[in-house]
Amino acid sequence: MIFRTKTFFAFLPMLAGVVPFAEAETLRSPGGDVELCFTLDSGGRPCYSVDFQGKRAILPSGLGFRLTDGSTIAGGFRIDSLSRSSFSETWRPVWGENETIENSYNSLTAFLSDGRLRMDIEFRVYDDGVGFRYFFPDSGAGRIAVAEELTEFAMPSDMIAWWIPGDYDTQEYEYNRTRLSGIRAVNESGDKMGNVSQRSFSPTGVQTSLMLKSDEGFYMNLHEAALTDYPAMHLELDEPSLTFRSWLTPGLAGEKALIETPRHTPWRVIMLGDKATDILATDIVYNLNEPTAYEDTSWIHPVKYMGVWWEMIAGKSRWSYTDLDNVDLATVDYSREKPHGNHGANNANVRRYIDFAAENGFDEVLVEGWNIGWEDWLGREKDFVFDFVTPYPDFDIEALNEYARGKGVKLMMHHETSGSVDNYEARLDTAYGLMNRYGYDAVKSGYVGNILPKGETHYSQRMVNHYLDAVKKAADRRIMVNAHEAVRPTGLARTYPNLVGNESAMGTEYRQMSPRHVTILPFTRLKGGPMDFTPGIFCMDLGTFVPGSKERKRATIANQLALYVTLYSPLQMAADLPEHYAAKMDAFQFIKDVPVDWSRTIYPDAEPGEFVVAARKDRNSDDWFAGAVSAEAIDYTLDLSFLDPGRSYTARLYLDAPGADCDTNPEAYEIKEMTVDSGTRLPLHIARGGGFAISFHAR
Ligand code: NOJ
Ligand code: CA
Repeated sequence: MIFRTKTFFAFLPMLAGVVPFAEAETLRSPGGDVELCFTLDSGGRPCYSVDFQGKRAILPSGLGFRLTDGSTIAGGFRIDSLSRSSFSETWRPVWGENETIENSYNSLTAFLSDGRLRMDIEFRVYDDGVGFRYFFPDSGAGRIAVAEELTEFAMPSDMIAWWIPGDYDTQEYEYNRTRLSGIRAVNESGDKMGNVSQRSFSPTGVQTSLMLKSDEGFYMNLHEAALTDYPAMHLELDEPSLTFRSWLTPGLAGEKALIETPRHTPWRVIMLGDKATDILATDIVYNLNEPTAYEDTSWIHPVKYMGVWWEMIAGKSRWSYTDLDNVDLATVDYSREKPHGNHGANNANVRRYIDFAAENGFDEVLVEGWNIGWEDWLGREKDFVFDFVTPYPDFDIEALNEYARGKGVKLMMHHETSGSVDNYEARLDTAYGLMNRYGYDAVKSGYVGNILPKGETHYSQRMVNHYLDAVKKAADRRIMVNAHEAVRPTGLARTYPNLVGNESAMGTEYRQMSPRHVTILPFTRLKGGPMDFTPGIFCMDLGTFVPGSKERKRATIANQLALYVTLYSPLQMAADLPEHYAAKMDAFQFIKDVPVDWSRTIYPDAEPGEFVVAARKDRNSDDWFAGAVSAEAIDYTLDLSFLDPGRSYTARLYLDAPGADCDTNPEAYEIKEMTVDSGTRLPLHIARGGGFAISFHAR
């Protein structure tokens, strides 16, 4: 039902600098929980506000743009017409947390003109949030060169926020939890993660997806959806008014965004829920994206994989083959050079991983450091480092792919671009061609370091186009993509489901991250799409296999198992070394059993920064799986009412053993088996930085 009521803005206008003058158009969500108001202020600036369950969620906030010629598209508008409609569908994602997704909203489009150009603003109001975007019809405006988008999100109070600093080049940060008024102090403390490429723009700048909690008892999350041909949006807080303003990512070109009309912008998204778990469950970001662009998606599949990877990250072996330094590697004949003897991607070692992966039912084996160039890459900012096609002499690409195929697994390709985008674009077709030739069907790409050409940024319009172009070109060759250091996802995997993963946040490669991190990711980074987090570390003291390493993973084994359930991804890695799994095959059984594609998901309980509990049903059987992670030690009773009624299950519980702790006793786990049904309640203990993982096998 659509409410066609007209109402006046009833708020303190000075809070957001908005002086309402016109009657407001009101639009309610299908179930009525969310209400949007739209109007023009006295200067003819478009403004909106949002209420959730009768509480003000977004105070009146302005909309518009500033252009590179100094003019603005943010006032002097009149409403030419309005159109309202309702939409409801159920769609089936190619892979996902649920087999079907409901997409129901009411929409309002305001057709505006300021005498110079026409601009439409389209709002969609869902029961769990709001999406809106701008549209510039082809009204002779031609190209619009945007200096800044002037979208505001005026906060209703000094909310609690889980945030990472605004940055043009990286999302690899630990999350901060502060009130909005506390963002500046933390940002100015300069206490930031070191990263080879990092550029912040304002002491009150933050990234999306931004998780928020109100003292009035609701949760809100600000993000964007369907980010294409436009720069990524950050947010900058104006402190006196507690108003976030959009802050687009600049690139090399003078403007931040170049809009070729007719064209719409990405959706600005406000997720809302009265429970934290509502934010985990909402599909609004995917719903705001277009249906899949591919006619045939049969070649896209979930992937459970291992990799010649953690041993390099941990420092046991190396990506490089020689100790050559600072030479033009394009001219090096590696077969004549002396190897340093610690190259991870050598034939024997890769076969060892293939054997273990095949014996334990994995689909693929990632191999990093297979190709020439690794002597010369990190921080060098060179245009040409990698050609993506020439293997090191001790990596027999043909024989190894053949060997893998014979064992029913595939190798996964790795393209580290070292941020040199021109080089990658020039070589992409040949690189994908090589993959087709040897039977690779998935590539992990990466963009470490400053983007070249110099001055380009990781999240600019050009780079946003680059990442999607690489995905579309991969689809032409039936290749799936998992891009690291690319722009954070915005639900584009609905349209381009061969984008099976991104990193775009701090993952396992940050070996000693806080145990709080994994309790926040599902509320933030994962709202845009799956993350290649690379869980499954079993050996927490890296010094036991890397001489001299003092690093320790701050997680228990049960916590690492639980991540396969709490951090959804169709692409899941078992990141640790085969020998570490072989030593604990009973615990490894969970990684072997856990699916990577689900028919149903529920989130029984969660609080960002504290704990997350998830339960999911396998898409290909009647089995259920549950997982929980917690930053602090807690007792938690898991209510199994999510199980199918009238069935009994053999439950295998992977638990923190008494005395387990992420710092002092991380590898202490115990496994229990019992028969349960949907009436069972399981009292469980979770250690600090711990968790539980449970498989429920339908009997
Ligand atoms: C950073 C990626 O996140 C990591 O997974 C990869 O191993 C290195 N880059 C090298 O490409
Ligand atoms: Ca990374």
